[in-house]
Amino acid sequence: MKPVWWWWICIVVAAQASTAKAGENNVTYDGRSLIINGERKLLFSGSIHYPRSTPQMWPSLIAKAKEGGVDVIQTYVFWNVHEPQPGQYDFSGRYDLVRFIKEIQAQGLYACLRIGPFIESEWNYGGFPFWLHDVPGIVYRTDNEPFKFYMQNFTTKIVNMMKSEGLYASQGGPIILSQIENEYQNVEAAFHEKGAAYVKWAAKMAVDLGTGVPWVMCKQTDAPDPVINTCNGMRCGETFGGPNSPNKPSIWTEDWTSFYQAYGGEPYIRSAEDIAFHAALFIAKNGSYINYYMYHGGTNFGRTSSAYVITSYYDQAPLDEYGLLRQPKWGHLKELHAVIKNCSTPLLQGVQSNFSIGPLQQAYAFEGRGTCAAFLVNNDSRRNATVQFRDNSLELLPRSIGILPDCQNMVFNTAKVSTMTNKRVTTVDKVFDAVDSWKEFKEDIPSFLDTSLQSNSLLEQMNTTKDVSDYLWYTFSFQPNSSCSEPVLHIESLGHVAHSYINSIFVETGHGSHDTKGFSMDVPISLNDGLNNVSILSVMVGLQDSGAYLESKYAGLNKVNIQCSESSTYDFTNYTWGYQVALKGETLEIYKEENLEKVEWSEIDESTNKSLTWYKTTFDAPVGDDPVALNMSSMQKGQVWVNEQSIGRYWVSFHTPKGNPSQTLYHVPRSFLKPTGNLLIVLEELNGDPLQISLNTISVANFSSPNSYNQLPQLI
Ligand SMILES: *[C@@H]1O[C@H](CO)[C@@H](O)[C@H](O)[C@H]1NC(C)=O
Ligand SMILES: *[C@@H]1O[C@H](CO)[C@@H](O)[C@H](O)[C@H]1NC(C)=O
Ligand SMILES: *[C@@H]1O[C@H](CO)[C@@H](O)[C@H](O)[C@H]1NC(C)=O
Ligand SMILES: *[C@@H]1O[C@H](CO)[C@@H](O)[C@H](O)[C@H]1NC(C)=O
Ligand SMILES: *[C@@H]1O[C@H](CO)[C@@H](O)[C@H](O)[C@H]1NC(C)=O
Ligand SMILES: *[C@@H]1O[C@H](CO)[C@@H](O)[C@H](O)[C@H]1NC(C)=O
Ligand SMILES: *[C@@H]1O[C@H](CO)[C@@H](O)[C@H](O)[C@H]1NC(C)=O
Ligand SMILES: *[C@@H]1O[C@H](CO)[C@@H](O)[C@H](O)[C@H]1NC(C)=O
Ligand SMILES: *[C@@H]1O[C@H](CO)[C@@H](O)[C@H](O)[C@H]1NC(C)=O
Ligand SMILES: *[C@@H]1O[C@H](CO)[C@@H](O)[C@H](O)[C@H]1NC(C)=O
Ligand SMILES: *[C@@H]1O[C@H](CO)[C@@H](O)[C@H](O)[C@H]1NC(C)=O
Ligand SMILES: *[C@@H]1O[C@H](CO)[C@@H](O)[C@H](O)[C@H]1NC(C)=O
Repeated sequence: MKPVWWWWICIVVAAQASTAKAGENNVTYDGRSLIINGERKLLFSGSIHYPRSTPQMWPSLIAKAKEGGVDVIQTYVFWNVHEPQPGQYDFSGRYDLVRFIKEIQAQGLYACLRIGPFIESEWNYGGFPFWLHDVPGIVYRTDNEPFKFYMQNFTTKIVNMMKSEGLYASQGGPIILSQIENEYQNVEAAFHEKGAAYVKWAAKMAVDLGTGVPWVMCKQTDAPDPVINTCNGMRCGETFGGPNSPNKPSIWTEDWTSFYQAYGGEPYIRSAEDIAFHAALFIAKNGSYINYYMYHGGTNFGRTSSAYVITSYYDQAPLDEYGLLRQPKWGHLKELHAVIKNCSTPLLQGVQSNFSIGPLQQAYAFEGRGTCAAFLVNNDSRRNATVQFRDNSLELLPRSIGILPDCQNMVFNTAKVSTMTNKRVTTVDKVFDAVDSWKEFKEDIPSFLDTSLQSNSLLEQMNTTKDVSDYLWYTFSFQPNSSCSEPVLHIESLGHVAHSYINSIFVETGHGSHDTKGFSMDVPISLNDGLNNVSILSVMVGLQDSGAYLESKYAGLNKVNIQCSESSTYDFTNYTWGYQVALKGETLEIYKEENLEKVEWSEIDESTNKSLTWYKTTFDAPVGDDPVALNMSSMQKGQVWVNEQSIGRYWVSFHTPKGNPSQTLYHVPRSFLKPTGNLLIVLEELNGDPLQISLNTISVANFSSPNSYNQLPQLI
């Protein structure tokens, strides 16, 4: 054994020594590009967010990005998962930022670290830990001392952590770029003169941390020197006003490969051709850095997605939610990257000129050091264009860019896709249809007398739950003074969902949407002559991730009354309310093996409609290593845990305008599973049918042979 160990240690030491020797690549820039180790760089980058996949997935995601011609992996840093309480840090498991960056380094790629620490990103509360809300006098993202203290504290913590691990390029590490703040200009005006002061402060604070690599501020035209302003969007070649100084390079930090999806929304499909057109256009217009947002979107596990955003994230990216290649997107972009890389010398060392080659056609040529590359743009979206470039006559497809790495031969056209399309295949491994394999636990419906927190007003939801749960019970008891016929319960809520119960019987549910968070509902009810218990479960589906003054947003019920046909109305807005934060099953953490016995589980009772029921069963992992997903289409709304890990919220009953659930398949990472006896816990808020939940494996099929098509069990 001993010789083996010695040998191993020698290798490790040698590897570290060689890393150190290659180090001190301070990254700088000029008006053309980032400069690493004295060389201008043309870089393609892809966003992969470490908490949206698992450490077991990272190596293959990064390898597939590298194979796709990506040079840089970009990630945000997710403050709220790292500092759940002030000064208490978590960098374990999916939150192991250092391990993620080191994996990028091990595969020879660069990293871009967008610290924020406000990130938006369809992430709960835009990445802010909820405890910030209770810091006295705090106003987020402005010239406010309490906020600046915590922002600087966390930013410094991350920078110091990266430095102590030697992860900046200036130390021989992979990080070549960092970001401070995020699309601040969208909210800046709301803070008046304090907005501009905050921008200056944030830039200086970041630069003073001395990382040896440049900082960017995205969508911030007044980014103070030396911070680089960058573009986000789908068409930065057309929309970007350019860097705010001639000696800053043109960088696209978010080229949206799709768009996030909200419950009730359809998926946004952006074609490979359109992504390639705009990427090529940005390069033709002097861009030297493009990051695809997202290259792999992944999964919003647990309660991490922001208001009304679905659990699957940017599934339409070049790598889909499961990390499988989405073709032709991945392959077409890979070709584009290779062709553009072949133009590196003229692009980075040459001089650009542009000239018209037709009414809707434009040529961009880069010449220098005896090299020449050209990008010929046909902006006619309907017709081919035959253009004359130098001595050649060339035909360009509608809305396309032809690339000529030698100014002679058109080796690539953004609208000509040679990569084969593939389709995702879902194969059912098991249907959970055996009644006796399940047990259920009906959540108690608390009434006023059961509550310990009381108030003479309707409390704001987030301030009451502190976001430890999606759920807040609002309850009261009352007796009508005189006869109240055909009573109607009127509820107004600032978001997001409300389930109403009269005397412990479910009556109705209502909800808002991503664009209109609040809603109201009028529910016909029946009342006893005596005392009645009214219990309303107000549910949040993630905290808002954007907008100015995020610290003073409201959610939960804001008006409740009961109207009787006698034209009398009982107003409960300022009545005595009782509150319960979280469900009993959540408080007892009954999704954990060790707590299962804290409640009484019984056989599934199919004879009644139910709401708020916990279900449990066990299952064996599907053989092989294809990704695994639960099909929840028979359920309505709730959360799922597998072996104590939350795989996220599901909401199947909220349909899109076309009448479909926004998401039916929910990813269960392989690393969450053991071969047998996996514990599945489902919390269903409404009246779903667990007997039709199924376990599936996911793969892709190419349409190379018609035979394989016939064998496909189910296509999506
Ligand atoms: C962050 O603040 C805590 C006190 O709340 C302090 O102990 C710690 O040193 C600070 N860290 C940095 C990097 O400023
Ligand atoms: C790189 O930058 C760091 C921090 O600014 C500085 O301490 C170091 O001397 C620089 N190294 C080189 C090789 O310029
Ligand atoms: C890049 O250039 C090399 C050398 O000219 C050539 O062999 C290769 O095919 C080119 N690749 C692409 C994608 O154009
Ligand atoms: C691109 O850079 C060149 C200098 O090489 C400059 O003359 C030209 O105006 C720039 N073009 C655009 C679209 O910014
Ligand atoms: C062409 O170049 C000129 C001068 O460099 C620049 O002002 C103009 O914006 C460019 N036109 C296009 C369509 O890129
Ligand atoms: C193409 O035309 C549209 C208008 O039809 C315009 O908005 C866009 O900027 C043009 N793009 C290019 C690259 O010329
Ligand atoms: C457009 O150009 C392509 C490539 O040259 C060619 O295959 C196609 O037939 C042309 N389409 C039309 C309508 O002329
Ligand atoms: C939050 O709750 C506390 C009491 O717990 C109260 O003093 C404070 O005013 C509330 N803030 C908001 C914004 O509702
Ligand atoms: C109302 O709730 C109280 C306390 O849980 C309970 O004792 C009472 O029976 C309930 N009344 C009705 C009508 O359900
Ligand atoms: C019910 O009685 C209370 C006081 O006893 C009174 O304030 C209220 O207006 C009455 N409500 C209705 C709808 O009659
Ligand atoms: C409830 O009380 C608040 C403050 O005490 C008051 O401003 C509001 O008008 C009352 N609302 C109703 C519906 O009575
Ligand atoms: C269950 O709910 C459905 C629809 O709300 C209703 O039609 C049905 O009668 C209910 N069944 C029971 C057993 O309550």
